[in-house]
Amino acid sequence: MTHAVVVGSGIAGLMTALHAARAGVDVTLVTKDELEHANTRYAQGGIAGVMFADDRVEDHVHDTIVAGAGLSDPAAVRVLAEEGPERIRELISLGVGFDRDDGGELVRGLEAAHSYPRILHAGGDATGTEIERALVSAVRDARIAIIEHAFLVDLIVEDGAVRGVELLEAGRDRVVLSADAVVLATGGAGQLYNRTTNPAVATGDGIAAALRAGAEVADLEFVQFHPTVLAVGEPFLVSEAVRGEGGVLVDDSGRRFMLDVHPDAELAPRDVVARAIAARMAAQGGRPVRLDATAIGGGAAGPETAEAFLAQRFPTIDAAVRERGLDWSREPIPVTPAAHYLMGGVVTDLDGRTSMPGLYAVGEVARTGVHGANRLASNSLLEGAVFAARAAAALASAGASGSSPWRGPRALRAPLAAAVHAAEVGGIVEHAAVPFSRSALQRLMWDHAGLERTGAGLNSAAALVAGWRAQERTPQSVHELEDENLLDVAAATIGAARARTESVGAHHRIDTPEAAPTGTPRLAPDAAASRTL
Ligand code: SIN
Repeated sequence: MTHAVVVGSGIAGLMTALHAARAGVDVTLVTKDELEHANTRYAQGGIAGVMFADDRVEDHVHDTIVAGAGLSDPAAVRVLAEEGPERIRELISLGVGFDRDDGGELVRGLEAAHSYPRILHAGGDATGTEIERALVSAVRDARIAIIEHAFLVDLIVEDGAVRGVELLEAGRDRVVLSADAVVLATGGAGQLYNRTTNPAVATGDGIAAALRAGAEVADLEFVQFHPTVLAVGEPFLVSEAVRGEGGVLVDDSGRRFMLDVHPDAELAPRDVVARAIAARMAAQGGRPVRLDATAIGGGAAGPETAEAFLAQRFPTIDAAVRERGLDWSREPIPVTPAAHYLMGGVVTDLDGRTSMPGLYAVGEVARTGVHGANRLASNSLLEGAVFAARAAAALASAGASGSSPWRGPRALRAPLAAAVHAAEVGGIVEHAAVPFSRSALQRLMWDHAGLERTGAGLNSAAALVAGWRAQERTPQSVHELEDENLLDVAAATIGAARARTESVGAHHRIDTPEAAPTGTPRLAPDAAASRTL
């Protein structure tokens, strides 16, 4: 019997585990916190899919490719749009209670850059929580071994193939778990930035482990910043669906500045809205812009109408807003952009295979080619579900060898320097004295590898990160191991951003003119430097 270790318990990991177990694979599901504590649970807006007779797969494909600034892989996008509805029906059969109207029909939500209201949501704005609940329950009922509070230290590589994982389990020594195949479903790396919608667990562990093992990684320069996160208290996502329902963005003078920026105004692609907000904030002394939801849900008729609508349609956001002492049915609320999603990751083919035999990747950790330079709203849960099912089928059919031939893009390994050494990029001496801390790294990434980038800023960041990586450390705790992962992924992200000198999608270089993007995916530098353990 094939034994697979699935690392991560968001939609991608849970769906992979379920499908693989059903196909007769002996599955061990490993997660660094409790099963329920994955990024999926924080998804608000919903899951996109062609579920209605008057929607079309072609239109979902088109919207995804346009949002991706033309860098998506059309074959991957087609798989996503064509197989998405089947996966959504599977979620429904597993007990996910998507919102329905009084007639029992699925409610249709609209989000930015979708030409059709194809977003399904649950509990108003608690879609991720509901999906996670249903999938965790299904996994607990299945024949799947579960190891919680187990941190992925590294992949075990034998003769160029991945043959297991090294884990640090809470309160125990490190252990090696051998396997025929390993599936990374470890999510993204929002913790690279000081403002993020991601939970604390999003520290890029899978990408860092893949880089160290020598797997191909691409598109790390494409980091998506969500435009609207509450600017009071801890960053809290205010779903794009609020703008989909008619919320508008205003500046200090009450002007709807998005009308001057893009024909779709607040529903322009996410990178456009996020950058426009950052520009307005810069123009008004750094003060956040405001999201005005007072007129939605018929609120023009009076705040009571808006109050009832907002509480019913967005109960999670409503509670967070009110906890911060704000009343969004009566006044616009302050919002800023925050790091949200990593488009790049471990390169896979259409069946989740990576460039290394025995290693698969699904969900945000993977670079399937679906998202190109900018992910379309609500395509992430869908991608996790669709490619999880495919990866599970591929590893089940691979048998004990753990791998079948990789059908990914060829010759992706770009000739980028592995690590950038301070000496190479010189002139940045003022940073040399900054001691390493996670918050220093997060501020550096925000300032120099954030919404807007320059060659000089990226060089400066590269120098400092290289200096930090060169320091002798012996990481022992999970937090220290996460720091090393964040440093590895930061180095790779900065390297990829330095290499892409044109602006495209979420990667915006203000020091170079907008140019036709290169269609060839670029590889992140090989963060091959193995860690001293
Ligand atoms: C949101 O609800 O705005 C986030 C949805 C997504 O990231 O796709």
